[in-house]
Amino acid sequence: MKKISILGSTGSIGTQTLDIVNQYPEQFQVVGLATRSNVDLLATQVQQFRPEIVAIRDENKLGTLKDAIATLDYSPIILAGEEGVIEVARHGDAESVVTGIVGCAGLLPTIAAIEAGKDIALANKETLIAGGPVVLPLVEKHGVKLLPADSEHSAIFQCLQGVPEDGLRRIILTASGGAFRDWRVEKLKYVTVQDALKHPNWSMGQKITVDSATLMNKGLEVIEAHFLFGMDYKNIDIVIHPQSIIHSLIELQDTSVLAQLGWPDMRLPLLYALSWPERIYTDWETLDLVKAGSLTFREPDHDKYPCMQLAYSAGEAGGAMSAVLNAANEQAVALFLEEKIAFLDIPKVIEKTCDDFRDHNPYSPSLEDILEADNWARKTVLVEAEGLGKESKVISVK
Ligand SMILES: NC(=O)c1ccc[n+]([C@@H]2O[C@H](COP(=O)([O-])OP(=O)(O)OC[C@H]3O[C@@H](n4cnc5c(N)ncnc54)[C@H](OP(=O)(O)O)[C@@H]3O)[C@@H](O)[C@H]2O)c1
Repeated sequence: MKKISILGSTGSIGTQTLDIVNQYPEQFQVVGLATRSNVDLLATQVQQFRPEIVAIRDENKLGTLKDAIATLDYSPIILAGEEGVIEVARHGDAESVVTGIVGCAGLLPTIAAIEAGKDIALANKETLIAGGPVVLPLVEKHGVKLLPADSEHSAIFQCLQGVPEDGLRRIILTASGGAFRDWRVEKLKYVTVQDALKHPNWSMGQKITVDSATLMNKGLEVIEAHFLFGMDYKNIDIVIHPQSIIHSLIELQDTSVLAQLGWPDMRLPLLYALSWPERIYTDWETLDLVKAGSLTFREPDHDKYPCMQLAYSAGEAGGAMSAVLNAANEQAVALFLEEKIAFLDIPKVIEKTCDDFRDHNPYSPSLEDILEADNWARKTVLVEAEGLGKESKVISVK
């Protein structure tokens, strides 16, 4: 029986992790749950999974949460605010913490969990992209495991089992191509929020769905792969694979290529991040290659999707540049979702923000440097967005 805590329990990652616990109660037990503001679902989860500790980030919702679980026949610790979420991350004898918070908001709770000696099932990629230079030394210092739950990185991790340390030559990340893979580039200026939220293969939270539409998600995954597997950026490639059956591949020194395949279902990488190195039997639908039909591949279009190249450049710049890229992207996506900027403005404001930071980028950033860079980038994007040409901000009707 493995004890786990889940940060972001009401989101797509959080609820799929709880599906696993529900299906395999003899394997996993929930110790802690934390979320931002969805009190109703959190209260239902508390009732069903009976964690020892619960936190809600939005302090205004604390009273509602307490009322919602007042009639239960046990009394969990109930906390609020960022400190509450951090307390859940480090609480008790949970062996593993699933990081399903979206955005850099996951950074401090993840650090708290690492410092408390918990293994991390890492879904919250933004934490590593922004905080890689400080997170990796802490993982080493506290002797914990950073187990990827992102499907591509789980695929790479699975392929790497049994590969000697210097056997890896190249990583090939697959990308579905996002909502607009079959759109002509000229049509992208008419993209609406609803268009961007229609992912062809995966059902995920809003932010990552927009990141998939801009292909920034793949760019962020390039940086994530660099930090997780220590691979140079020049040896991390992207290939468009519209069917999302091959979740990623590795090329070895002798040119042999290994891939991990499966239906697009996030429960599988989540389960492996929680059960590694074991393999747990499931009754999930097995892959039928004939039903999957043909698997196709094409080159990513960097002109249509500039975000990928922005991510490579930020990763190669090092220091706090990937924190700036990440924060600028989070802020730009939030503005797009609020219909304050257009889809094509997202890469524009990110590029300008990264350019402005170039001369201030610390070589070896501390946690304070990273948090400061994150904060600066968000403010800079707001200023940049204000300055965009009027017609650029108007989302035209198709
Ligand atoms: N979804 C996927 O299939 C998938 C795949 C690979 C990687 N990921 C990564 O996993 C992370 C989560 O993605 P998602 O799709 O699950 O997002 P999501 O559906 O939007 O869920 C985000 C979760 O985080 C909570 N949250 C947000 N800010 C918080 C804060 N400051 N403190 C505590 N909780 C907070 C939300 O609470 P409320 O519900 O109360 O707002 C919600 O429970 C992202 O980093 C994403 O890139 C997701």
